[in-house]
Amino acid sequence: MVTAGPTREYVDPVRYISNESSGRMGFEIARAAARRGWQVTLIAGPVALETPAGVRRIDVVSALDMLVATRKAFRAADVLYMSAAVADWRPKRKLSGKWRRKDDGSEQTQLELVKNPDILATVARHKGARMVVAFALETGDGVRRAQAKLRRKNADWIVLNDASALNAPVSSVTILGRDGSMQRRKSSSKAATAAALVGLWDRERGGP
Ligand code: CTP
Repeated sequence: MVTAGPTREYVDPVRYISNESSGRMGFEIARAAARRGWQVTLIAGPVALETPAGVRRIDVVSALDMLVATRKAFRAADVLYMSAAVADWRPKRKLSGKWRRKDDGSEQTQLELVKNPDILATVARHKGARMVVAFALETGDGVRRAQAKLRRKNADWIVLNDASALNAPVSSVTILGRDGSMQRRKSSSKAATAAALVGLWDRERGGP
């Protein structure tokens, strides 16, 4: 199973907090996995991408929706690629009507936010024999931070992205393993990176 894209956290019926994730990396992983004959469930946030052939797609909007769908699919999964860019925070309240710019003379306002659950950490806590691949986008001291994140979230691998990866067709990534391994892939297409990530399964199982 693969999660992909951003989540959207609504403030009112027409406004939301989200991020720049395009979902491309996750969709490429789903495509590469389906090509290998795997049964693939793709849990996608709001993205404008076509579903790869042979992939079962579940569309979600918010982090809470994604948590429900991910928990359910994880039970039957052997591998999780958690490439979604889950919004860390959501508005405490969603207004039922439009948030109006009342003409009360105030030049400031505040939006109360509450923390979203950590979907990956929640499901990976009891991962058993499943292989779990996390993703991270870091600014500064990326390798050390990503290694710490890998352990904190109980993942087997973490894919460290450069900030340039957001919304781009090409990216440089570093794949870090729980075993301390580190593989740097410079300016590869997301399709090539996806194929390498699907190949982690063979490595995990002692294959070629
Ligand atoms: N993730 C998740 N649920 C969240 C936030 C992140 O499942 N609420 C997953 C992402 O899909 C990714 C990994 O955790 O695979 C790393 O995400 P990141 O946002 O870098 O982690 P954070 O715990 O939010 O760390 P930071 O303190 O750097 O924001």
